[in-house]
Amino acid sequence: MTDSAPIERPAWLTSGDFTEADEPMRLFASWFEEAVRREPADPNAMALATVDAGGVPNVRMVLLKGVDERGFVFYTNRDSTKGKELEGAPKAALVFHWKSLTRQVRVRGTVEPVTDAEADAYFATRARLAQIGAWASRQSAPLESRLAFEKAVARFTAKYVVGPVPRPPYWHGYRVVPEAIEFWHDRPFRLHDRIEFRREGPGGDWTKTRLYP
Ligand SMILES: Cc1cc2nc3c(=O)[nH]c(=O)nc-3n(C[C@H](O)[C@H](O)[C@H](O)COP(=O)(O)O)c2cc1C
Repeated sequence: MTDSAPIERPAWLTSGDFTEADEPMRLFASWFEEAVRREPADPNAMALATVDAGGVPNVRMVLLKGVDERGFVFYTNRDSTKGKELEGAPKAALVFHWKSLTRQVRVRGTVEPVTDAEADAYFATRARLAQIGAWASRQSAPLESRLAFEKAVARFTAKYVVGPVPRPPYWHGYRVVPEAIEFWHDRPFRLHDRIEFRREGPGGDWTKTRLYP
């Protein structure tokens, strides 16, 4: 194959034309389901961008832990840097990049906390040590040494030695309620396909626009 020859596409990648889709959450669900099957590491990893009080963007990876027609849910520490930024400006952008699928999805929208019941239910599914870790970690605060963290883990392990570990009050989920979702798929010679869906607010009708790559 020469440099300029088109890359041979596997059948599963070329079958169907996603640009024909007229509803973004169902399209996301089908791409995500494919990513879960084919992306070897963390198919649910997404970059989460927030903005600080000075208007400076901030971005880090988080894991998608729930998605439905309402939006995209992740869990974190509300007292973390991202938690404080979301408190000040409850808007966010997400990016998924599934390298094995040569696909990208971008999301922009408003952010709201999930219900306590939702957070409790998800926290209960976490591994016990991860639950202990949520108590021991003051996420994003300065940590004097690794030992100090290990001591905190030991302290909470002893405290919650019997029975279920309760959810820390600051450990919570956020839902990014989308107002714009863009789907990008690699095509030969960088003639990629892009479609963007937009709506005025939750419950509004989606309008679709094809974009130059
Ligand atoms: C693949 C990956 C997944 C991550 N998932 C989460 C997550 O779901 N929740 C979380 O709070 N931090 C997660 N982190 C850590 C964050 O990227 C970040 O370091 C941490 O949340 C502190 O960010 P902040 O100081 O901006 O609040 C993940 C990191 C990686 C690399």
